[in-house]
Amino acid sequence: MGSGLSAAALAAAAAVDETRLWQALMDLAAVGARSDGGVCRHALSDEDIAARALLIGWAESRGFEASVDEAANLFIRRGGRDADAAPVLAGSHMDSQPAGGKFDGAFGVLAGLEALIALDEAGIETRRPIDVVAWTNEEGGRYDRSCTGSSVWSGVSELESYLSDIGADGVPLGEALARTLAATPDLPRRPRHWTPFAFIEPHIEQGPVLEAEGLSVAAVTGIQGVRWMNVEVTGKAGHAGTTPMADRQDAVQGALRAIAGLNRLMADPQDRVRFTVGRINVTPNSPNTIPEKMLFSIDFRHPDRELLEDRGGQIAQVVKDAASPCETLIVPTLSMDPTPFPDSMVALIEASAEALGLGCRRLASGAFHDALYAARVCPTAMIFIPCRDGLSHHPAEWAEPCHCADGARVLAATLVELANSPKT
Ligand code: GLV
Ligand code: MN
Ligand code: MN
Repeated sequence: MGSGLSAAALAAAAAVDETRLWQALMDLAAVGARSDGGVCRHALSDEDIAARALLIGWAESRGFEASVDEAANLFIRRGGRDADAAPVLAGSHMDSQPAGGKFDGAFGVLAGLEALIALDEAGIETRRPIDVVAWTNEEGGRYDRSCTGSSVWSGVSELESYLSDIGADGVPLGEALARTLAATPDLPRRPRHWTPFAFIEPHIEQGPVLEAEGLSVAAVTGIQGVRWMNVEVTGKAGHAGTTPMADRQDAVQGALRAIAGLNRLMADPQDRVRFTVGRINVTPNSPNTIPEKMLFSIDFRHPDRELLEDRGGQIAQVVKDAASPCETLIVPTLSMDPTPFPDSMVALIEASAEALGLGCRRLASGAFHDALYAARVCPTAMIFIPCRDGLSHHPAEWAEPCHCADGARVLAATLVELANSPKT
């Protein structure tokens, strides 16, 4: 054969249907569609529930079995010859940013479904079952602590620790989770933890490299480390027209000094540090009251764990000194170390792409993904496809139909190789 891939893997890739996959992407994008062309599909919202119903309907119409776990992670199974063999898992998430796009997460889930359909249409049996997953709350757009579903499934966090988290709309996560689970009362329940043979997450790159290099896919080598925290700066409310400037404890001014101090701390001539203040809440948020509180979020990332530790460890002091005389409180919400993927998995994706004649390179992920948690449980890798102008977390996010199909082809071929692997 010469390609290094089995005939079944090549046949599965050949059965991927670009039009069908594109239609599914557009149909899913209609759920929570924004008037600017983007998508707002918050985790565990009515739109998320509707998206789940769509996916379950597509899966069941093809004879695949849907199931769900306590964290509302949704699984779609195509059975294998050996029902006891550890399944291969693939997928991503269906929740979006508040002003998100059509592809972030959705592509990974629907490429997974398309791969299952392609295997069916090519008449391919695999030894292992293949599960496609839609993880719960990857984005953190409604409930701050992102990757809720995959972190619970992986055993890194306890589901119970999330239930009282309050969403941006004031609804506790436990309540939204119960509503979501109640919408599919007949779905079989999966255990909270289980170990797949391997996990593959297809995703748009969310950066400019593949497009600039004219490549179809990337074999992702790993994910950089990330620290999230919320900073609360507390001053003293008072009358904006009467309180002398020297007597004020203005929380907004304190927070602005703190952010300026953090910009100095995070300065990086190599431009590898990523530092973002993406959310600001002011209380009482009135033009003529001196602000009593300002909360701001920090998203800080770097590929090197020591640097994350070192600069991350200085944040509290920088904030405290700069915001004085206001009081400060820092609440960490996410901390993940840089995560390399096993070389054997990266090489398998490269080999699939090469056998299919697709331009491919290795690439590290700047964004985090559920694969970060899956990598704690089983051999994990990711497939990236290009997205226009590298734009993501934006309504104009766009991936070409041919690139979506190429990513699904690499996935289908890789899944067949993994699902027929004789290893236990
Ligand atoms: C994922 O959405 C990220 O922010 O990297
Ligand atoms: Mn994503
Ligand atoms: Mn995202």
